[in-house]
Amino acid sequence: MCGITGYTGINQAGPILLEGLRRLEYRGYDSAGIAIQSEKSAETENGSAPASSIKMLKATGKVSHLVEKFEAEPDFKGVCGIGHTRWATHGIPSDTNAHPHLSADGKFAVVHNGIIENFAEIRAELQKYGIEFKSETDTEVIVQLLAYNYKGNFKKALMKTIARLTGSYAIGVISDEYPGTIFAAKQASPLIIGVGIGENYFASDITALVSNTKNVIDLDDGEVAEITPDEVKVFDHTGKEIDKEIRHINWDIASAEKSGYEHFMMKEIMEQPQALKATIEPRIKCETLNCGDTDLSIVFDEIKGLDMKKFNRVHITACGSAYHAGCVGRSIIESLCKIQVEAEVASELRYRDPVMDDKTLVIVISQSGETADTIAAMKECKYKGATVLAIVNVVGSSIAKLADHCIYTWAGPEIAVATTKGYTTQVAVLAMFAVWAAGELKTISHGAYTSLILDIMHLPERAQRALDLNTKVKKMADKYYDNQSLFFIGRNMDYAVALEGSLKLKEISYLHSEAYAAGELKHGTIALIEPGRLVVALCCYEKLFEKTVSNIQQVKARGAEVLAVAHEGNRSIFQEADDVLLVPQTDALLVPVIEIIPLQLFAYYVAKKNGCDIDKPKNLAKSVTVE
Ligand code: AGP
Repeated sequence: MCGITGYTGINQAGPILLEGLRRLEYRGYDSAGIAIQSEKSAETENGSAPASSIKMLKATGKVSHLVEKFEAEPDFKGVCGIGHTRWATHGIPSDTNAHPHLSADGKFAVVHNGIIENFAEIRAELQKYGIEFKSETDTEVIVQLLAYNYKGNFKKALMKTIARLTGSYAIGVISDEYPGTIFAAKQASPLIIGVGIGENYFASDITALVSNTKNVIDLDDGEVAEITPDEVKVFDHTGKEIDKEIRHINWDIASAEKSGYEHFMMKEIMEQPQALKATIEPRIKCETLNCGDTDLSIVFDEIKGLDMKKFNRVHITACGSAYHAGCVGRSIIESLCKIQVEAEVASELRYRDPVMDDKTLVIVISQSGETADTIAAMKECKYKGATVLAIVNVVGSSIAKLADHCIYTWAGPEIAVATTKGYTTQVAVLAMFAVWAAGELKTISHGAYTSLILDIMHLPERAQRALDLNTKVKKMADKYYDNQSLFFIGRNMDYAVALEGSLKLKEISYLHSEAYAAGELKHGTIALIEPGRLVVALCCYEKLFEKTVSNIQQVKARGAEVLAVAHEGNRSIFQEADDVLLVPQTDALLVPVIEIIPLQLFAYYVAKKNGCDIDKPKNLAKSVTVE
C-alpha cells in the first residue's frame, strides 16, 4: 500500500525515482509524485537565494502521468530526491493529496507509506500554532511537525517527530538545508536501503532497486537511517549509531520485468512450475539405502527446533488468497496429523479474543510478509502464548521477522496484484509441512508418507501440464466473459479452490462472483440461478464427485451453464457439464495446486476480454499494509 523510494548520488535523481516508482506501482496507483533538491544554478533567475530549493512534481493517476509531466520540465534537475506512488487512505486521489508533502516553510519534503493514527490530534495542535495544512492526508502532519521541531539539527528533529507518531510509517525525508542527504525511518511498514557505490537508495521493496543494486540493508522498526551518496548510517530509537548487515539479494532484473509477457500476472502464472520446483526440491531428501532402495523424506532445516508434540491444536490465519491457501492447509494438516485445525481470516481473529495458549501452533501465511491484519493477528496470538510459524515469500519481511519460525516459499518476486505463484507455493509448503508434521507425530504410515512426497515432487511437472490448457481456457473465457454474475462451487478441497478461483476472477475482472460449498447452494443461493448463469463446478475431489454432480444437476435444471474442472480420466463429467477442463491427476490432498491453474487463466482472459487493467485492478494494491 503506497510505494516510496529515494536516491542520492551523482546521477540525475528524476529518471531513477520515476523508474523506481514504475516498479513500485503495484503497491498503489492513484497518484504519484517526486521531490528533488534542485541544483543551485537552476534555482533563481537573479541569483538571489531561493525560498526553497525543493522542487516537486505530482500527478493524479498512474506513474505514466507523472512521467509525462517530468518530460515536459527540462529544468527539473537534481541528484537527490524522494518519490511516492499512492493508494489513498486519507483524502481523495488528487494532486494536492499526492505525496511528497512539503512543510509550510518549504524546507522539508516527506514521502510516507502507512497510517498515522494520531494525525488529527497533531494536526489540531499545529494548527493552533498557525501552521496551515494544504492536504487532507495524515502524512502532512509528519512534515509540518518536523519543521516545527527543527532547531538546526535534522536528525534530532526527525527523532523527536517520529517519537510522537503512533501507527505505521515508512518515511523518506529531504531538507533544502542538507544537500545530498535523505533521512529514512520505519515503524511497521517496509523499508529497505539500497547500497551502491557513490550513490545510495531507499525503497519500500527490492523491486524498485534491483536494477541498480543488489546490496541492501533492512531497516528495523524504530530505526532511522541517514543516507548520503557515500555512506549509510543507521541509528536506534535513542539516536545511537548501530552496525547493520548488508544483505545480498539474488533476484535478477528479469524477476522484476515482464520478460515479453503482456502482464506480470500471466508471467507469474507461467512461472508456477519453476516456483514450485524452487520451493519443493530443496526440502526433499533422497537417500539410497544399503539394500539399494531409496528413502524419501521432507527436511525443513528452518524449523528444526519446532516440536510438534507440544501442540494440541493448530490455528491458521491470513488474508485473501493466503487465507484460501490456509483453508487448504487446514484440511491437509487435519487429515494427516489428526490434530484439530482451524483457519480464520486475520482481520477477524485479531479482534475475537481467540482461545489459545502455549499448546497452540499458529500458522500465519503471507506472500508479502507485510499485511497489517496478519501482523496484528500474529501479535495477538503470540501475546496469548501461542508459537507462531510463518509461511512467507518476501525474505526479511515483517512477518518473517516477527514469527518464532519461518518457512519461505521460494516463488520469487510477485508483482501482479492478483497472486498466483504466491498462492500455489503456499499450498505446496502447507502440504509439505503437513507430511513432515505427520512424520514427526507418527500419524502417517511409511507408505502414505513416501507416496505423498512423490506426488509433491510431481507438482511442478503437473502444474506445467495444467498450463497447457491455456488455449482452451482462453476459448472458455471468450465464451463466458460477459456473464455478469458467476458462481464457483465445490466440496472439501474443491470448495477451497472455489474460494480462490472466485476471488481471482472478481478482483481483476470486476464481475460479480461467489464461491459456495456445493451442498450449501440449495439453502438459499440457488434462488439466484437463472437461465444463462455460469456455474464453475470444481470436481477434482473425487471422494465427493457424485455429490457435486447432484449439485450440478440442480443448477442445470434451473438453466445454468456449467463449466467443470475435473481430473484427466474422468469421462462421466462430459455428460453433466456444458464445458470441461481436465487437469492432471494428483493426490486428493494436493488437488488445489493443480486445479487453481485453469481458474487463474480463466480470470486473466475474462479480465482481458473485458478490457480491465489486469496488473493494477481498481481500488486494490499488492501489499495491504493498512487495516
Ligand atoms: C490476492 O490475489 C489478493 N490480491 C489478496 O487477497 C492477498 O492475497 C492478500 O491481501 C494477502 O496478502 P499477503 O499474502 O501479502 O499477506
